[in-house]
Amino acid sequence: MKLNKIADGIYSDGRKNYTENLVKGKKVYGERLISFKGKEFREWNPFRSKLGAGLKKGIFPPIKNGSNILYLGAAEGTTISHLSDIIKENGLIIGIDVSARVMHKLVELSEERSNLIPYLEDANNTEETKKELKEIKFDFLFQDVSQKNQTEIFLNNAKTFLEKGKPAIISIKARSISQKNSKKILEEEKRKLEKEFIVKKAVFLEPFQKEHLLVYCEKK
Ligand SMILES: C[S@@+](CC[C@H](N)C(=O)[O-])C[C@H]1O[C@@H](n2cnc3c(N)ncnc32)[C@H](O)[C@@H]1O
Repeated sequence: MKLNKIADGIYSDGRKNYTENLVKGKKVYGERLISFKGKEFREWNPFRSKLGAGLKKGIFPPIKNGSNILYLGAAEGTTISHLSDIIKENGLIIGIDVSARVMHKLVELSEERSNLIPYLEDANNTEETKKELKEIKFDFLFQDVSQKNQTEIFLNNAKTFLEKGKPAIISIKARSISQKNSKKILEEEKRKLEKEFIVKKAVFLEPFQKEHLLVYCEKK
């Protein structure tokens, strides 16, 4: 088996995608580990990660070794672990989540990964987070929170933390917003984004994730 680089820090064997493991020998969510040319790689499962599904649909996270990331909806760190692999020790991820239960797992992960800082907070409270994070210049904002006002949360955080021209990706879950026609809901949310962002690409994540739209945009 041979791996080819398909983006900064992301590799493919032609069918599956991988990141180089920052913590050799350690799995994060039961993913497969493989060796290639003396290095260890972790399979990025598109059924477990919306960014992983996005890769299969042609959206690549715009990050590299050394990037600073604000991640809203960190959960137990499944997706964050792959971003942590890509940005390596020079980069930084602030992983925000409102749930103390998932934060426990994220804290454990951060003990192995020095580029990850877990942050227990409601992503609606940008006034609070701003006090703590005002010194950091973020290169990329990612959000995956299952809330009715998820687009508003994203817009508010982008306004607070992202400079003009910087990239951001949001995973929008239709069922958190309403029970109506999911395509219609997702189109409406995309239109809300267009007020403050240039939408570069938007993809539905089927068959990997049901009724989700992943939107890659740039701050106006
Ligand atoms: C679908 S999970 C995220 C999965 C994660 N992005 C991954 O791929 O590994 C959604 C997360 O959003 C968090 N969440 C929901 N509302 C939030 C809020 N207002 N602020 C911060 N986190 C929130 C939940 O606690 C949950 O952990």
